[in-house]
Amino acid sequence: MKKIPIIMDCDPGHDDAIALVLAFASEKLDVKAVTVTGGNQTLAKTLNNAKKVLSYIGKRPPLAAGADKPMFRELEVAEAVHGESGLDGPILPETDYKEERTFPGGERLPAVDLMRRIILDSPEPITLVPTGPLTNLGILFTAYPEVKKNIARISLMGGGIESGNWSAAAEFNIFVDPEAAEIVFTSGLPIIMSPLDVSHKALMMPGDLDALRKQGGRVSVMVAELVEFFYQYHIAQGFAGAPLHDPCAVAALIAPELFKTAEYHISIETKGKYTTGMTFADRRFWTNAKPNATVCLDIDRPGFIRLIAEACKTYD
Ligand code: BDR
Ligand code: CA
Repeated sequence: MKKIPIIMDCDPGHDDAIALVLAFASEKLDVKAVTVTGGNQTLAKTLNNAKKVLSYIGKRPPLAAGADKPMFRELEVAEAVHGESGLDGPILPETDYKEERTFPGGERLPAVDLMRRIILDSPEPITLVPTGPLTNLGILFTAYPEVKKNIARISLMGGGIESGNWSAAAEFNIFVDPEAAEIVFTSGLPIIMSPLDVSHKALMMPGDLDALRKQGGRVSVMVAELVEFFYQYHIAQGFAGAPLHDPCAVAALIAPELFKTAEYHISIETKGKYTTGMTFADRRFWTNAKPNATVCLDIDRPGFIRLIAEACKTYD
């Protein structure tokens, strides 16, 4: 089977970590690199979390640190959701894993340079899978627009059609760096978007969590511990389970049959009084606006949970 070459661009983050577990377990994907951005926590923390998760699951792909702040704004982190470390919950061992490129003096371009090299050197067009703020992609497309010719598509977690989470209108990843998101959504590249509309249905319920623990195996247990922490925040908000946002962006590539989608033109609100970071979908049936995203709206939840449980088993 021909594998899809991808780059995971993430800000781990509990659900980012599970997205990595899913991506590296899949026979359908060839993960060429992992790049990291500040988002759920500061870059130093998300980078450290990425190293720990990857080491724990026994994978050492090329890894690079990217943006430590949004393109034109200050970073807002999601400590309330992901904790002080950005990955509170499981105690993962420290690791000697070093990133491909270091960032002396806070240099912001190394992840972008790694992406550029991989994309331009690849005989096959690369798929980008961003699961954090879109800053690294925004910088990449601005600094090196030539990469677009060898990008197959972007499968991202971000946005919300009906509602936001970080504000009433905006989802966290887009809210943090709307200017970068605008660059991505106007790039002309095919986009598969997994917004809150689908990720709030991609719930891991307490029963699923018990089953995962019972399944055993070190990665199943790590994922269960991640979900358990993530669950606490969401249960307090009134969710019935833990929404596994970021794994949706991976699942949309390896198991598209799990999703119901619609084609929409999405604009990014960068200047709203109340709506900064909103992913505004033109849903007029008579619209002339050309769709720029395939938007995942619904999911076969049990099928998705099975996919994750099976992925965990592959590490045993
Ligand atoms: C997104 O925000 C982050 O907290 C999660 O990792 C996910 O990428 C959901 O809004
Ligand atoms: Ca994320």
